Amino acid sequence: MEVIKNIINIGQDDPKQTLFEGQYKIEHGIRYNSYLILDDKTCLVDTIDREVSKQWFEDLQKALDGRNLDYLVISHLEPDHAYSIPMILKAYKDVKIVITMAGFKMLQNFLNDYTFNNDNITFAKEGDVLSLGEHNLKFIMAPFIHWPEVMMEYEMTSKTLFSADAFGRFGTYDYNDDNLDESRRYYIGIVGKYGSFVKNLLTKAGNLEINRIAPLHGNVIEKDSLGKYLDAYSKWASYQSEDNDVTIVVSSVYGNTLDASKFLENELIKAGKKVNLFYLNHDDFHQAIAYSFKSQNLVLFSITYNNDIFPVMKSYIDGLKERNFQNKNVYLIENGSWGPLANKLEKEMFSEMKDIKILKELRIMSRMNQKNKEELISLAKEI
Ligand code: FEO
Repeated sequence: MEVIKNIINIGQDDPKQTLFEGQYKIEHGIRYNSYLILDDKTCLVDTIDREVSKQWFEDLQKALDGRNLDYLVISHLEPDHAYSIPMILKAYKDVKIVITMAGFKMLQNFLNDYTFNNDNITFAKEGDVLSLGEHNLKFIMAPFIHWPEVMMEYEMTSKTLFSADAFGRFGTYDYNDDNLDESRRYYIGIVGKYGSFVKNLLTKAGNLEINRIAPLHGNVIEKDSLGKYLDAYSKWASYQSEDNDVTIVVSSVYGNTLDASKFLENELIKAGKKVNLFYLNHDDFHQAIAYSFKSQNLVLFSITYNNDIFPVMKSYIDGLKERNFQNKNVYLIENGSWGPLANKLEKEMFSEMKDIKILKELRIMSRMNQKNKEELISLAKEI
């Protein structure tokens, strides 16, 4: 697939993959991109995951059409992009590797049975330029987006930013993600923790004239859509809510807590609020986390289990904390048949996060009664 004349995307879809990084559910598959630049010199920007390497290598050879591969630029060592490096080293013995110094240390660990020719390794530093003829790749260091060794490349002639994992998403190439749900779930899940590093990157990107962003996952983002993605990244990186909606997250065993959450949902909708409800026992755990970042208001309906928070709810709150969740209004509703503890324990967990306002705590004993209903109606008005 041509990105623009003489820049070919030889990436592959993996529609059958169901888990990304062994934990994120991917209903719509995943895309791995790998870019070939054809100029006086030929240059490959990143390789590909093991599951799709066979077709990728055939496509690479077809696109090279008998030419040698002069350069391999390695932006990121995570194996979903770096797994197929040995195929390149075997087929193109004199290929020159361009990589960060931190990346080379990881590469040596991954390929611990391979002897590198040091004459063929170039360490890229911030602002270095690799000239391929008409195309020139300027290197931009991007640590922790999403590993510490990451760099990006700005092709100065076509004004294309090869952005590594940044601006990627779940879903195959043609998946329609207009509402950004799979971009957000990917971002919050994978780099949500590293907002300050993403802000640094956005500052650097602000100094570049960019015609398109070519990430390692998802589709190439052309100029007319760039504003939407840059705005979203700017909010995500600074932990700003995207809207004043309400996200309700529920754990329930016999349905009484779920009933109470749906009662509040209905009251909120009647009051004109947009509500996103996630029933953690069944719904996607990571989408619940992503939507908790998206909305300004978070309501938890929780139960106590073994004198602790019900396991899936506890893991969800841990998931928020891991990703630097902050700056939200939180409402806690617990349900217990004896000795409810969920609110107390959740408050302790949230106290370790920045700028979380616990604005209300309510308790239900076993099943919502009339008083609880009135409290929830009043809470809906308050929110
Ligand atoms: Fe898509 Fe961090 O690898």
